[in-house]
Amino acid sequence: MARKKLVAGNWKMFKSLREAEAFVAALGAGKEFSAGIESVICAQAPLLPVLASALKAHGLTGRIQLGVQNIHWEEKGAFTGELSPLLAKEIGAAFALAGHSERRQFFGETDEIAVQRALAAHKHGMRAIFCVGERLNERDAGQTFAVLERQCAPLFAAAKQPPAGFVVAYEPVWAIGTGRTATAAQAQEAHAFLRTVFKKAWGNAGESLQILYGGSVKPENSKELMGCADVDGVLVGGASLEAAGFLAIAAAAG
Ligand code: PGA
Repeated sequence: MARKKLVAGNWKMFKSLREAEAFVAALGAGKEFSAGIESVICAQAPLLPVLASALKAHGLTGRIQLGVQNIHWEEKGAFTGELSPLLAKEIGAAFALAGHSERRQFFGETDEIAVQRALAAHKHGMRAIFCVGERLNERDAGQTFAVLERQCAPLFAAAKQPPAGFVVAYEPVWAIGTGRTATAAQAQEAHAFLRTVFKKAWGNAGESLQILYGGSVKPENSKELMGCADVDGVLVGGASLEAAGFLAIAAAAG
């Protein structure tokens, strides 16, 4: 079963309203975002309405979808600083990142919280991009597979059935923002392992699951990475901030 390639940009805490508009204007006709691939930009929530209207103005609606970087699992409540999944949906999010290593590392998010956020996306008609990945000391200690299994365990405890359109991103922490990309062989090895883990839990759905690679993805390495049998797309930070880079990576996916 062919899995569509998904090119996801993670803008993190970058870009103003004006910069977001300029980014869309610089995409041109956007023919790189062909029907054969999916693409999404995960931006700070206030940028989504601006991005949606800029995409519309440039005839790119539907070619690039929009996503948020974090949602809470409750619909509303006294949770200062959090984003309601209802509001995320209302501003046009089709995707929500969950469990990004920066959330885990800088904000103390646990494996359980990452899972709650991911499942909230599906409860509210969005698709999760559920991020997992080992730190350098864990890789060096030969614990990569054990870490990935540990990060996924609360997901399988909470979701006996695979949520439709669920996406996983393998992002080795040592490769994020460091310029040190995993080799294609390292990526393929981790992706193949993750797929067996998901197939064990979710049966055949594991076969159609899109597993993205993230960590210093650039136009120059994206084609080789996406050429791996179990790499179904990329989650791109730094290189997604420039229209030219994002276009080149989308072209490599097509
Ligand atoms: P990077 O970030 O491409 O800048 O390494 C990837 C990510 O954090 O998702």
